Amino acid sequence: MIVAEGLTKYFKDLVAVNGISFTIEEGEMFGFLGPNGAGKTTTMRMIQCVSPVTSGSLKIFDMDSISHPREIKSLMGVVPQENNLDMDFTVYENLMVYSRYFDIPREEAEKKVEELLDFVQLTDKRDTMTESLSGGMKRRLILARALVNQPRLLILDEPTVGLDPQARHMIWDRLRLLKKNGVTVVLTSHYLDEVEKLCDRLVVMDYGRILVEGSPSSVIEEYVGSGIVEAENYPELLECLNRREASYEVIGDLVHIYTNDPQQIAEYLTMKCPISKMSARPATLEDVFLRLTGRRLRE
Ligand SMILES: Nc1ncnc2c1ncn2[C@@H]1O[C@H](COP(=O)(O)OP(=O)(O)O)[C@@H](O)[C@H]1O
Ligand SMILES: [Mg+2]
Repeated sequence: MIVAEGLTKYFKDLVAVNGISFTIEEGEMFGFLGPNGAGKTTTMRMIQCVSPVTSGSLKIFDMDSISHPREIKSLMGVVPQENNLDMDFTVYENLMVYSRYFDIPREEAEKKVEELLDFVQLTDKRDTMTESLSGGMKRRLILARALVNQPRLLILDEPTVGLDPQARHMIWDRLRLLKKNGVTVVLTSHYLDEVEKLCDRLVVMDYGRILVEGSPSSVIEEYVGSGIVEAENYPELLECLNRREASYEVIGDLVHIYTNDPQQIAEYLTMKCPISKMSARPATLEDVFLRLTGRRLRE
């Protein structure tokens, strides 16, 4: 569905996307993770054919993004990072006006819009002015708008940012339904649990590059191991872990020990090491993310 090779984007002399390659299969749900400034939005905008590629190649539906932007756009739906709805229109008008960009006959568009309002549960807000919608409703309306042209590919840039848990779950549920109906879904997210739950495969980006690629579980196993034992940090404990050549990271007054066998590590610690408190838990994408991109804050 999407094939990128050496995809690069410069803004003057700043390299926002630095020669990345990836392939997204038809019917997949694919996630782009990474801290602020990693290059996710820039990558999404190149896929949307609204930001020209500096170098490398990018094919969508087997068409080149530079030579066939119109054809590609007509087959694709987009939920951009920023809410760019028309605030002076009602919910219904926002969808109808958008349908005109795709030359959908009026009657067909009316039918589709009603169906989409129902799909995102906004039927009772049909005639409400868009500016008075809550954040979650605006996000749902943008999702509905992205579906007006019945796209085969849906691109979502931070679809659930700032939403409450109910609104997030509703959007996830809708995305799963779309995937079930054969739509290829590409999303970026800060919410790692979201990506872990939804995506078949993902990449983690940082500083314009791809650091890892794979299914959530394979990425977790490869980069941290399936489990994490957390223990209080003592110099003697670190010595003890070094003797065993355990893989660990010190995080403040805690030590994270990465392992595929938490029970074995826990037994070793109890028997051989001076330890007061510890607990074991399954590793998550968040552990991978922090391990790969560091704990320093990004603005
Ligand atoms: N239009 C632009 N002009 C100049 N620099 C930009 C522009 N858009 C993004 N950048 C820069 O490119 C880098 C990647 O940004 P972006 O793709 O928005 O990252 P992300 O979505 O992962 O947070 C950042 O350093 C950002 O400041
Ligand atoms: Mg972004």
